[in-house]
Amino acid sequence: MDFEEEPEVIIKVNQLFKIFGNDPKRGVEHLRAGRTKQEIFEKTSLIVGLDDVSFEVMKGETFVLMGLSGCGKSTLLRSLNRLIHPTAGEIIIGGRDIVGMNDDEIREFRRDNIGMVFQNFALLPHRSILDNVAFGLEIQGMPLAERHEKSRAALELVGLSGYETSMPDQLSGGMKQRVGLARALAGDAEILLMDEAFSALDPLIRRDMQDELIDLQERLNKTVIFVTHDLDEALKIGNRIALMMDGKIIQVGTAEEILMNPENEYVERFVADVDMTKVLTAKDIMMKADPVIYCKSGPHHAARLMKEFGISSLFVVSQHRILRGIVMLEDVVEAVKHDKKTLEETTIQDIPFVQLDTPISEIIPVIADSRYPLPVLDEDARLKGMIMRSSVLLALARKEPETNDS
Ligand SMILES: Nc1ncnc2c1ncn2[C@@H]1O[C@H](COP(=O)(O)OP(=O)(O)O)[C@@H](O)[C@H]1O
Ligand SMILES: [Mg+2]
Repeated sequence: MDFEEEPEVIIKVNQLFKIFGNDPKRGVEHLRAGRTKQEIFEKTSLIVGLDDVSFEVMKGETFVLMGLSGCGKSTLLRSLNRLIHPTAGEIIIGGRDIVGMNDDEIREFRRDNIGMVFQNFALLPHRSILDNVAFGLEIQGMPLAERHEKSRAALELVGLSGYETSMPDQLSGGMKQRVGLARALAGDAEILLMDEAFSALDPLIRRDMQDELIDLQERLNKTVIFVTHDLDEALKIGNRIALMMDGKIIQVGTAEEILMNPENEYVERFVADVDMTKVLTAKDIMMKADPVIYCKSGPHHAARLMKEFGISSLFVVSQHRILRGIVMLEDVVEAVKHDKKTLEETTIQDIPFVQLDTPISEIIPVIADSRYPLPVLDEDARLKGMIMRSSVLLALARKEPETNDS
């Protein structure tokens, strides 16, 4: 997500209900009267799919719908492109009311705005990979040359250039799902709906696909609604996660918000066995590395900064905060005594560092072995923050969920 721009709401869902069965509006009344999904089913045979769901999704966000099987994830996802017609409530996408559209309007709206990726790939077996990707465009009546050009570009995005003439049964599961993704991207839709898209893949391939999606998102900035029942997957790819139960959204938040402040016992149980050291990364626990000292400065300046801020070390940077090393108080004092003009001899180079997305599990051994505060660098070696031993401990000292015997 691009945080430099003002976030823009692209999807707004307001008090959405979906009841399956005859005379579904009755179900809404039962829910409003406070009855549970189970009670309503026993009394009326109506099945609650969605129960008063409200949320917003920002443009460019990867928004995950998560929860146990049967909690309503697919029903919610499929309501967004009206494959399912809600019983009550509002869905506004890009300023347009989805629920009130007639069949022609919704078809056109889907075509221009929404791409969908399914769990079972849904590839046509007798068509080449290229023609599978181009299928949706073909249905729209796009001329051959143009739809092939767009489809080639989409295949390239997912790393499948060269497979245009292959047939689906020649591809592995992971590759088939890349084709599914390419097909969703070919139409240039702003919104991608993905329903358990990676759930059928082997764990290693699945992780690759998650990385691929994150990578694609950095380049394309689509709005992705991603359904999964897998918490680790949700935490990894979601900017925000909505946790669902019995057709309701129980909590919406970032991975950290949900892990650190579970809304209720259900969420707490859900997240109980997540290993925090794998979820939190350097950027979550780092603090500001300020002040720093410019490498052309001298020991007198360094000594003054250390005294003023009461610190015993200073990171040394060159232009654009590129890290050059660290100076320690005792060395700076020596350098001042010997009237050194620069910090060149005083700077300790090649100190350990971590990247913004290094997980705590990998930070702990590095910081345990180091005498220095740990610098956090971006890809261009620019100093973004620093980590002290105490910040790691603090991050891990969250409230442990109570153990449950059941
Ligand atoms: N077409 C349908 N007819 C009746 N009940 C349905 C239908 N589709 C889904 N449901 C019910 O709605 C609830 C939510 O289902 P679903 O959205 O598929 O859950 P999830 O995707 O989270 O596994 C479940 O209780 C399911 O049995
Ligand atoms: Mg489902």
